[in-house]
Amino acid sequence: MRRPIIAANWKMNCTTGQANELVNNFKALVTQVTEVDIVLAPPFTALATVGQLISGSNIALAAQNMYWEESGAYTGEVSPGMLIDIGCKYVIIGHSERRAYFGETDETVNKKIKKALEHNLTPIVCVGESLAQRENNETQAVVVLQIRRGLQGLTSEQMQKIVLAYEPIWAIGTGKTATPEQANDVHHFIRRKLAGIFDEATASAVRIQYGGSVKPASVDELMAQSDIDGALVGGAALKADSFARIVKFEA
Ligand code: 13P
Repeated sequence: MRRPIIAANWKMNCTTGQANELVNNFKALVTQVTEVDIVLAPPFTALATVGQLISGSNIALAAQNMYWEESGAYTGEVSPGMLIDIGCKYVIIGHSERRAYFGETDETVNKKIKKALEHNLTPIVCVGESLAQRENNETQAVVVLQIRRGLQGLTSEQMQKIVLAYEPIWAIGTGKTATPEQANDVHHFIRRKLAGIFDEATASAVRIQYGGSVKPASVDELMAQSDIDGALVGGAALKADSFARIVKFEA
């Protein structure tokens, strides 16, 4: 079966001092966890600090974004080589906040995925519909377009190295979790599309996380679903005990 992967997206939160406290507390609570891939995505400014704190532990480091060029005159951007250099194993790509506020498109997502894979960084690729799109019954159409365009030109082998995250925008930071059934329906739909675009083996190998107001109280039921392989957690990952409880879900 697919190995669960639970990731914390800290977004634009935590100074290095706050990161230090959060990671030290969290690390102590999850030392016994061996059956789950645990990932922390702090802001760029805390990557070095967090990387040092989790070095040699069961926790991996992720960045929240990257650019698709190797180096050069791209003021304010960070390259995949820089992320590898600082110890990142993963990079979040195409988060809905980047799409909404910073002009990220399926085309830039596609470029970033390809460049991350070249560097052996595992992309965590986010897709998901807005509330208006869900109410208009456009969820499947929106997600399939994000997948077709975002994953365009990838081989099955490359696809199997990617983690997908289904994050309905209406559930992010709102306290409104998709019901486990709603989430699983979309995960299942995504997996069927992956089977069509790639093949059955790829579809059954790819891990798909759910994201959007995942909390200690909701994680167990979500993780019990057939096609939900993990969680991408925002707010509830900023407290050591609540994120530790999420990582120790009981499905
Ligand atoms: P919340 O868990 O705060 O809803 O954020 C989810 C998210 O966007 C993770 O990437």
